[in-house]
Amino acid sequence: MQKGEWIYLYHDEQTYFLPYEPGGSFSTHYGTIHFPEDLDFGQRIATNKGVAFYVLRPTLADMMMKVKRRTTIIYPKEAGIILLELGIQSGSRVIEIGSGSGSLTVLLSRIVGREGKVYSFERRPEHQEMAIMNVQRFGKPEHVEFILKDPVAEGGFGVGEVDAIFVDIPTPWMIVPQVWKALCPGGHVGFLSPNIEQVQTTVKRLEETGFVRIRAMEVWTRGIRVKEFLTRPHDRMIGHTGYLFFAQKVEKPATEYHPEYFI
Ligand SMILES: C[S@@+](CC[C@H](N)C(=O)[O-])C[C@H]1O[C@@H](n2cnc3c(N)ncnc32)[C@H](O)[C@@H]1O
Repeated sequence: MQKGEWIYLYHDEQTYFLPYEPGGSFSTHYGTIHFPEDLDFGQRIATNKGVAFYVLRPTLADMMMKVKRRTTIIYPKEAGIILLELGIQSGSRVIEIGSGSGSLTVLLSRIVGREGKVYSFERRPEHQEMAIMNVQRFGKPEHVEFILKDPVAEGGFGVGEVDAIFVDIPTPWMIVPQVWKALCPGGHVGFLSPNIEQVQTTVKRLEETGFVRIRAMEVWTRGIRVKEFLTRPHDRMIGHTGYLFFAQKVEKPATEYHPEYFI
């Protein structure tokens, strides 16, 4: 394990998320842990009070949830489907708007790899600062260009031929013409919007502009507590984050589209 690598210290339901410091120490109310010079994932390590912790490798989902927030963020439950529906992979060129707290940027920066690129647009400097800081902590900042700009008010993205665009702003319908212009032929666009009215208005604009294969969905996850004779869903779950919807660019104007938006 490298110095500075993020680790999860796990003890039953109590976890701590921190960078590994060889020879360093970490104190909790369970006692102090002294880190050895060599540490492996999966290793069991005890505090000076004899309480055992396991050293776990955090997932990309853990990192997204650990970003410091100034805005609402894209949650892991939506993030996986966003990548799949937008066809994002190593080498993809992707635009996102807005950067917000950078939760999605952390993920995108790690997926596109050295050959790909993320162009992350944000209009508020204090949000951009937070996104940059989070990507520096958890992502691959060298794969991201952060751009302080409102592409709706300031003449579009100024970046072209990208494979995919993800839109997470309150007025998504306003950016549709700029999205069409920046995408490669057949390119993918995705949106997350909390309100149905945003979905309806944007879908109408997508149809008019030259997009097909429009589909909308919600993602629910419900945790199950597994305990002998008590195995059942948790009492609480995240009720609503937003609606996801996706489309693909075609030659303008679109002559045909599928009327069933809701799958
Ligand atoms: C909900 S947050 C995005 C969260 C982000 N996806 C994440 O995972 O952390 C929305 C962001 O879009 C920015 N925004 C809204 N309208 C914009 C526009 N027209 N141009 C650029 N940024 C915009 C806001 O300032 C805000 O930071």
